[in-house]
Amino acid sequence: MKNKKNSGASPTKKLWGGRFKQSTDALMETFSASISFDKRLYDCDIEGSIAHCKMLARCKIITVAESNKIIKGLKKILKECDEGRFEFSDSLEDIHMNIESRLREIIGPVAGKLHTARSRNDQVCLDIRLYLRKEIDDIIAEINRLCKALLAISQKYIDHVIPGYTHLQRAQPVLLSHHLLAYAEMMLRDKERFLDAYKRINVMPLGSAALAGTNFPIDRKITAKLLGFPEISHNSMDAVADRDFAAEFCSASALTMMHLSRFCEEVVIWNSSEFGFLELSDSFTTGSSIMPQKKNPDAAELIRGKSGRVFGNLVSLLTLMKGLPLAYNKDLQEDKEPLFDTAETVKVCLRIFTDMMKSAKFIPIPEKELEASGFLTATDLADYLVLKGMPFRDAHEITGKTVAFCLKKETTLAELTLTQLRKISKRFDKDVFDHIALNNSVDRKNVYGGTAKKQVRTQITRLTKKLKGK
Ligand code: ARG
Repeated sequence: MKNKKNSGASPTKKLWGGRFKQSTDALMETFSASISFDKRLYDCDIEGSIAHCKMLARCKIITVAESNKIIKGLKKILKECDEGRFEFSDSLEDIHMNIESRLREIIGPVAGKLHTARSRNDQVCLDIRLYLRKEIDDIIAEINRLCKALLAISQKYIDHVIPGYTHLQRAQPVLLSHHLLAYAEMMLRDKERFLDAYKRINVMPLGSAALAGTNFPIDRKITAKLLGFPEISHNSMDAVADRDFAAEFCSASALTMMHLSRFCEEVVIWNSSEFGFLELSDSFTTGSSIMPQKKNPDAAELIRGKSGRVFGNLVSLLTLMKGLPLAYNKDLQEDKEPLFDTAETVKVCLRIFTDMMKSAKFIPIPEKELEASGFLTATDLADYLVLKGMPFRDAHEITGKTVAFCLKKETTLAELTLTQLRKISKRFDKDVFDHIALNNSVDRKNVYGGTAKKQVRTQITRLTKKLKGK
């Protein structure tokens, strides 16, 4: 990169140029500019400025005519930005100064009154809070959409029995719906976390100014009310210096991505020919440039991969803040890219994941196949012996021997004869076969929260109610 010394904008062009004699080094100008990424805050910045301006007029710090003029100019800038006509400039550093400078071009020196009783330090903090409120609304809508899709799939495939796993070893039969709704529970807790973070994001910092508060007789509650904030910050230094609310957002996002990533891992496994539990639609898979037969689960893999950057963003933000003395430091400008990247990634991953799941086909697994491997109902066999009066530990031992016997004979529990079973324990009777039938095994897990169809239906009803109207 070329370092053209002193070829930046002249010191007088800067909004803070008063005390400077030399112009900013060209590389320094690019280095310190955040406009390339914080321009996305333009609507939040203008929304905040309009509220601040209205408040200044109501408190008679500026006149109503001045306020109207400023607001009209800001609305014009909003339109320019919306229509992609606004020319962002590096030499104006960030979104706040780009907008203020354009305002001056449009309405003249009265533009300079907008920044009365305000600093970019509280302004940027307000912008981020406004931005995050909107992002959380969008993310929650996506989570609701995903949960609704999971409920619909669970209804549709309510009869599908799949092997449940521990240690990725076949463990016990479960309903596919039960497995899917486990993720709905996780996603709804993720939603709660976003809503909880929202409470602390929803605090209005303007009036904190640079760090100490302001000399002007402003009314912070007016600004808060205009922007729909239920609360104003209580300490000006805290308000401009901390980004814990942003870290909370990143932390809720990291957990959401962790859940999605796990779900994706299962989709990748289930979609493999070894498992064959589901078939992803062509729309969410891609081919191989060399192997013509391939249909790769790229969407699921990418979401799993993107969880890494979201975790990284949380760590970036925490690391960014850990050594900062109060109050504002320019380091804080580095909060934005991880934050924006997090919000964008979480939103698009949720959307793609939902669409991928909605278009996937779940393949029924024949009962014979489920019985053939993994001894899914071995625990039921042990429970059977318990029902016949045997202590569970002994029943476990006997069942273990039965499994070993099957392995030796290369057969399954369901295929054993009563005579064979009675050689192992006299407690076995002919009702044992019913007891270890797959569907009976599932339906007997009739404890609240269990995988019995009745219980799963109860949860479908509960979750549907929870999501109604959302
Ligand atoms: N662009 C800056 C940021 O994102 C805005 C605040 C700058 N304040 C300052 N005193 N330099 O953090």
